[in-house]
Amino acid sequence: MVRPPPDAGTNPPTDDPAVESGPLVTAVMVEAAADRLDGCIPATPVEISSRLSARVGATVWLKREDLQVVRSYKVRGAYNFVVQLNEAERTAGVVSASAGNHAQGLAYACAAVGVHGRIYVPRTTPRQKRDRIAALGGDMVELVVLGDSYDDAAEAAASDEVATGATRVPAFDHSRTIAGQGTVLAEAVQQLGAAPDVVVVPVGGGGLLAGTVAWLEERHPEVRVVGVEPAGAACMAAALTAGAPVALAEIDGFVDGAAVRRAGELTYPLVRDGGAELVSVPEGQVCCEMLAMYQSDGIIAEPAGALAVAALGTAISVAPGAGVLCVVSGGNNDVSRYGEVVERALVHEGRKHYFLVDFPQEPGPLSNRSTARKLDLHESAQRRN
Ligand SMILES: Cc1ncc(COP(=O)(O)O)c(C=O)c1O
Repeated sequence: MVRPPPDAGTNPPTDDPAVESGPLVTAVMVEAAADRLDGCIPATPVEISSRLSARVGATVWLKREDLQVVRSYKVRGAYNFVVQLNEAERTAGVVSASAGNHAQGLAYACAAVGVHGRIYVPRTTPRQKRDRIAALGGDMVELVVLGDSYDDAAEAAASDEVATGATRVPAFDHSRTIAGQGTVLAEAVQQLGAAPDVVVVPVGGGGLLAGTVAWLEERHPEVRVVGVEPAGAACMAAALTAGAPVALAEIDGFVDGAAVRRAGELTYPLVRDGGAELVSVPEGQVCCEMLAMYQSDGIIAEPAGALAVAALGTAISVAPGAGVLCVVSGGNNDVSRYGEVVERALVHEGRKHYFLVDFPQEPGPLSNRSTARKLDLHESAQRRN
């Protein structure tokens, strides 16, 4: 049952982001977030996957955040943030920029807590996502479509914050957001009745991974934690190599939820000190996994939602018989993307090839013997690879 949120006067104590010493997010903060979410944001199931268990020779459980009320875990951080606003902050409202799941989580949180939110999205945001944000937020949310990229929307949200005094709700780089995301793991361990041997989570800006290590490090330090990034946007690995968050020059935006250019200033030290391993998975492998999940398991995962699962048995191997908990983080896949998903999967598996053939722009070369020979050579070389 969903209970009404506490009002500003009766909130549990808030997490102060300006912690003077010690870690920025602690297990106690994650547990306090879980208490705030209890009865307001539904728990999601943990299910065993026989297909993935057979693949890795271990017991694999999936934490089904694709079944969350906004079809991703992002509502946890957003709700934990909004519900802690004081009376004045609630009156001034909140503002954020997001091209996807954070916006949906925030819209839900605004409607649930009764706080007005303005959410900026770029024009590239698919109609399906805009409609979901509007439906979830109802009268409490104003959707502003502006600019051609996420950066344009983020700039507009920052100016809005200065001009209106609304509180900006970060998608990953805030202790309240991180603590909220950490409840995914705390909830799953409670559901399992014991900590698994290995935990696998997707990584974008690092909010989910930071919340995960913050909680596990104190409560179950023996657990091996692996964060999975898309190969085309591995910003947390880049931060670990550079010793600080750095902006990636180029990113592949395909795994949209997790395609982040720069790791968070707060998530990075939590991940660095939390001892998580980081691996990356090619986008084509993510597509293969999305299709396998759809066809074999009946799970609709968006690219970021399939990211952690795609690493099992490829980038990650586990000890035989181990217990592995893997987070399916979201299921907001726009149906129009499946064409590209199938295409990328076929190319990744080597079942589809593209050939570039140079020939003169004049009549005849396609029937000419040397062009035909070149085509043959390309094709047999491709077949060998
Ligand atoms: C479905 C999904 N998975 C993973 C991520 C990565 O999140 P984080 O920034 O917490 O690392 C996101 C971010 O929006 C997401 O929407």
